[in-house]
Amino acid sequence: MEFHITTDKLDSLQADLGILPVYQDGKPTTAAAGLSRGLRSRIAQAMASGDIQGKPGETLLLTDTGKLGVKRLLLAGLGRKDKLDAKAWNKALAAAAKRSERSAAEHVVEMLGLEQVPGLDETRKARNFAEQWHYASYRYTATRKAAEDARPKNRKLTVTASGGADLAAVELGLKQGQAIGRARNFARELGNLPANVCTPAHLAAEARKLARRSSRVTAKILLEKEMKELGMNSLLSVCEGSQLKPRLIVLRYKGAPSKTPPVALVGKGVTFDTGGISLKPGSAMDEMKFDMSGAGSVLGVMQAVIELQLPINLVVLAAAVENMPGGRATKPGDIVKAMSGETIEILNTDAEGRLILADALYYALRFKPSRIVDVATLTGACLMALGRHYSGLFSKSDPLAEELRLAGEDSGDPVWRLPLGPEYMPELKSNFADMANIGSRYAGATTAACFLSRFVKDANWAHLDIAGTAWKTGSSKGSTGRPVPLLAEFLLGCASRDSA
Ligand code: BES
Ligand code: MN
Ligand code: ZN
Repeated sequence: MEFHITTDKLDSLQADLGILPVYQDGKPTTAAAGLSRGLRSRIAQAMASGDIQGKPGETLLLTDTGKLGVKRLLLAGLGRKDKLDAKAWNKALAAAAKRSERSAAEHVVEMLGLEQVPGLDETRKARNFAEQWHYASYRYTATRKAAEDARPKNRKLTVTASGGADLAAVELGLKQGQAIGRARNFARELGNLPANVCTPAHLAAEARKLARRSSRVTAKILLEKEMKELGMNSLLSVCEGSQLKPRLIVLRYKGAPSKTPPVALVGKGVTFDTGGISLKPGSAMDEMKFDMSGAGSVLGVMQAVIELQLPINLVVLAAAVENMPGGRATKPGDIVKAMSGETIEILNTDAEGRLILADALYYALRFKPSRIVDVATLTGACLMALGRHYSGLFSKSDPLAEELRLAGEDSGDPVWRLPLGPEYMPELKSNFADMANIGSRYAGATTAACFLSRFVKDANWAHLDIAGTAWKTGSSKGSTGRPVPLLAEFLLGCASRDSA
């Protein structure tokens, strides 16, 4: 995939396919101004006949474009012109990318970006374009035959910009979008790989590969022995039943002066979650291979930061373990002492994510981060509460929560803040340890967050529960790569805020 920019008008372009926006109310678009009367009336006809109404997300392929150098046109609805916003524009873009990705067109020009969209500048339009295109082009082939399709090996994608546009801004957007798109697909691939391939050792190997790509990155992989010495018994308790040894992956990226405190991202990397002795029911258990999606997304975002050479310091931690039942597995009622010195009564071995994060978060404090964000497929309760649209956001810090909320909105990878108050703390009381690892039946996402909060002391911390957003079910079953876009947006923001 190659991205280019042109300022040529539609009637002087040569391409196999052009993506042309249309408004539901028939209002003219910038790009269509250059079309012949014949083609304009064909488009009007298509709309009048109802073949396409112009709603956001609708597309229609016109195969006969007469004398135009662009051989086919994919009409993409943007909705009503007076209602055009980032959401509608992104929806049109995603649909157009999905539709054209299946085509044989070697050269595609897109003209959606010529429209003025409130809330989207040139950089963001180009970023979203490149990112969406990468998203649409992803195919899982690691363990299966590739489906035969018409897609050309190397597709050329051209963004049309208006004559007066700031081309450097468009260029920057394309670069960012490609980095983010690739990072997202990297995370998706890890989420889709089966748990007999994507093991803790596999995640560690991927992390090392990332580190080799940049002199700014150093990798340290903590093994069982080192974790024992550090007293990470909470983390270690999760994989007692597994034949696979745990890894605590630590990647440090240095893009700013050493005295600048880093941002720390901590991912849950349970490569398979059977529930352990508190065994999960059998149905859809296969999906628990995605329980390392937090780790996948923080590794993915590290790849984007490396590619974009962001001027920040970043520490990425991924706690990689497998949660299995077995003769040595942790049992309900077992008590372990975490690295923080506090004891935990493990009442349910299926509440394992928080057990590994307790030690990983506590360990992350040694980097004295300006912000620390953990990302975890932590609770079914979060999926119940928010469905698959919003990731759950928990933080005691309003400014950090707002940074993340905005990054989510701007990147189209949104979060919804849920409570994290002292009211819920008593739920974690235990008669036998400093705390239990589960609360009552209610507010499960919040009590999980409360548990984590005990290990971050007074750090500037937020928790993202991605149980609902990292995975899709149904015909498009698979990993979504969320929240890579959100995290990338957040770090781009940190880069500009912290250097200002
Ligand atoms: N990985 C799961 C959370 C999960 C469940 C994600 C369903 C996506 C879909 C997590 O480790 C887990 O099992 N959580 C338990 C916690 C409970 C035992 C307090 C849950 O949510 O049921
Ligand atoms: Mn579990
Ligand atoms: Zn889990």
